[in-house]
Amino acid sequence: MSSSMQSSTHLDYCPLSGAAAKPGPLSVPPDQAVLEAEELHYHYTDGSDAVAGVHFRIMPGETVALCGHNGSGKTTLMKLLTGLLKPAQGTVRVAGVELDTRSAREVFRTVGLLFQDPQDQLFCNSVGEDVAYGPRNLGLSETDVNERVALALNFTEVQHLEHRPIHHLSGGEMKRVALAGIVAMQNSVLILDEPFDGLDPASTDRLVTLIRHLADDHGYTVLMATHQMSLVPEVAKRMLVMQGGRLIADGPVRELLTNVPLLEQARLQPPDITRFFYKKALRENRKPERLPLTIDEALQW
Ligand SMILES: Nc1ncnc2c1ncn2[C@@H]1O[C@H](COP(=O)(O)OP(=O)(O)OP(=O)(O)O)[C@@H](O)[C@H]1O
Ligand SMILES: [Mg+2]
Repeated sequence: MSSSMQSSTHLDYCPLSGAAAKPGPLSVPPDQAVLEAEELHYHYTDGSDAVAGVHFRIMPGETVALCGHNGSGKTTLMKLLTGLLKPAQGTVRVAGVELDTRSAREVFRTVGLLFQDPQDQLFCNSVGEDVAYGPRNLGLSETDVNERVALALNFTEVQHLEHRPIHHLSGGEMKRVALAGIVAMQNSVLILDEPFDGLDPASTDRLVTLIRHLADDHGYTVLMATHQMSLVPEVAKRMLVMQGGRLIADGPVRELLTNVPLLEQARLQPPDITRFFYKKALRENRKPERLPLTIDEALQW
């Protein structure tokens, strides 16, 4: 983690404020799950179970990391949660409403999905057009669309690319533009599939700060798939672990990220700083207890 990330606990640049901060329509009581997967199963045409019996509920304002080895089913699960794939068995509920063919068409108003591959997300000719596409589809006035686009481009630091054709963007720029499109929608539930992939360290810091700001200050709910374990404690309080299509653990980040045998079973590792203190304790014949998850924690302890 870089020093800029440590010092920025909130966005001190152009925070979402006033009307522009208002997340998309979502009226759920605090005890109602915003995302619910009930015994979900999905298999691709070749027959293998990509998602097998997954069950969880995510409450409003929760920040949840979804971790698992390559091919464990994270992307498939995220597509099921947003209605892009239809489960073979089981049910998805968004804000208490069961996803079926009809409601799936409306889910984009509540849930924003950032695709793992930004090329799947971007389809307009230019950056500005692409970021404006979603808000315009919500039926907002041109003034509101322009305000949201400007805010989103600023957040993801791609203002200078506004008129650039999509096919001229670098990989990291593409990821940031795709993120801008999600930010501009102001959906109160964000499903982010590998949001840090391909981002440079400064962009990663900024995205961590943005996610925290949206969750802490605006009550957004976030479900994020990532392989970057050191970022998990930076943005999430709860963690889901998948292995071979199944959910094998669901619990507080601190508990699961310090459970090294569980992570190894799932072909994962704790953050480097946690591994360092874990191995040090073993080498000194101590029980590896009270392991730090971040560099900040290690310095404080
Ligand atoms: N269109 C498809 N047709 C057939 N099998 C698929 C298809 N898409 C994914 N799969 C398979 O489904 C399983 C789950 O894939 P998925 O993309 O959900 O994994 P993932 O956890 O997101 O992996 P990664 O960490 O690499 O992004 C994998 O075995 C994958 O090969
Ligand atoms: Mg994936």
